[in-house]
Amino acid sequence: MKRRPLKLSRRDLLEHWWVLPVAGTLGAFGYMGWYATHVTFGKERVHAPNFQPGEPLRVATRSALAQDWAEVPFTYAGRPCLLLRLPQAVPGGLSVGGAHYAAFSRVCTHLGCTVNLVRDPEVLAFAYNYRPPQGKDHPELGCPCHFSVFDPLQGGQAVFGKANAPLPRVQLEARGDDLYATGIEPAPSPGS
Ligand code: FES
Repeated sequence: MKRRPLKLSRRDLLEHWWVLPVAGTLGAFGYMGWYATHVTFGKERVHAPNFQPGEPLRVATRSALAQDWAEVPFTYAGRPCLLLRLPQAVPGGLSVGGAHYAAFSRVCTHLGCTVNLVRDPEVLAFAYNYRPPQGKDHPELGCPCHFSVFDPLQGGQAVFGKANAPLPRVQLEARGDDLYATGIEPAPSPGS
């Protein structure tokens, strides 16, 4: 049987013109709701490290990192990274001689901008719109592109913003006074 083509009369159009904008608005609100849920509740937890071995690279001496939150940027496996001395042991980090260290890739797991250590809680509050839970103020790794925040004391977990995956960690090893990078976790796919 031959189908008749759908024909809308001018009257039909005038009576139903509102359907498209209403459907568009509902779709936009639906998407915003889904996205807000995704970035709020979709943060991936930090797991046991999945280091892939690489060439050993001497990054710094332990004596050069004399205080907590001292930082040393370096490049490992072609990726910008940051070594931190931390006030406590963290998953995937290294504790030696009573001091704690961890190193992270600085490539943001949202869309790949370079994260920095943000030391000032007021900058985190006003620029990033992020306030940590009360009494847990400390420097965080922040991405200047879309203001995601990653917590070094939680092994680089994404705690705020569009990024959901944690920052890949760098494997550290102490050789005498020297700290070496000896491996790194794989980079997650962008936007994860
Ligand atoms: Fe880092 Fe978007 S690239 S939050």
